[in-house]
Order: sequence, then C-alpha cells, then structure tokens
Amino acid sequence: MDWFNEYSVNVAELNGQHVKIFALIGRLRRGLDEKQERQAIEEVLDNLLDYTQVHFAREEQLMRENDYPDMEKHIAEHAWLQAEVRDRRKNFLLGAEAKATELGAFLYHWLRDHIAVTDKNYGPFLNSKGVE
Ligand SMILES: [Fe+2]
Ligand SMILES: [Fe+2]
Repeated sequence: MDWFNEYSVNVAELNGQHVKIFALIGRLRRGLDEKQERQAIEEVLDNLLDYTQVHFAREEQLMRENDYPDMEKHIAEHAWLQAEVRDRRKNFLLGAEAKATELGAFLYHWLRDHIAVTDKNYGPFLNSKGVE
C-alpha cells in the first residue's frame, strides 16, 4: 500500500505536515540506530516535539472552526501523546539507551496509528466543509 492510500487525510496542508512528521521520525530512528551523539538525537527529538505541537494546534483549530463532532476525543488523544512524550523525553534525557530506542518506536507507532485512524476520520468531514 502506498503512502497516499494509507495516510492521506485529503487535506493538502495537513498531508504536508504529516509528511514532515514522518521524515522527522525517520531521522530520529536513524539517529538512534546509528547511535549518533546524544546531542544530535536530542535536537531531532526536540524538532519533532515542537513540530508535532504546531501540527496538533493546526488540526485542532480546523476542527474547532468547522465544529467537528469527534473533536473532543481527537484533542484528548493529542493531549495524551504530549503528556506521554514529555514523560518519556525526561527518561530519555536521564539516560538509558533502551529508553531512547523505545521512544523512537513509541513515537513512530503512535503517530502512524493516530494519522491512519483518528486523523483519517476527519478527512471526509473537513472536505464536506470545503477544507481540502
Ligand atoms: Fe495529524
Ligand atoms: Fe490528530
């Protein structure tokens, strides 16, 4: 299955942001696999977390502006991830190598599932409101 079938939410701006998120996760996981210096990994991790925050805020704005019925559940998922990542990031900065690999895998799986399921659900709704 290609990227478009699996992950497209059919809103160009948000697809573009998702592509960037996947690219950052790819860089993070590569950095972890190659055991790059912690500082380099932290930098990618911070970029990913900042960008995810910007992206979540944009999605939430579009959902609010258009009165998306599933908005509350969606926003709760974003909030949960952000709290979870803050926690895991702290553990990562404290040390263990295992924590780092785990963090990369966690982010990849969580974001992939969130985009493929929860995000994909708003596509037809936003399209019906003229957001494409
Ligand atoms: Fe998203
Ligand atoms: Fe989302």
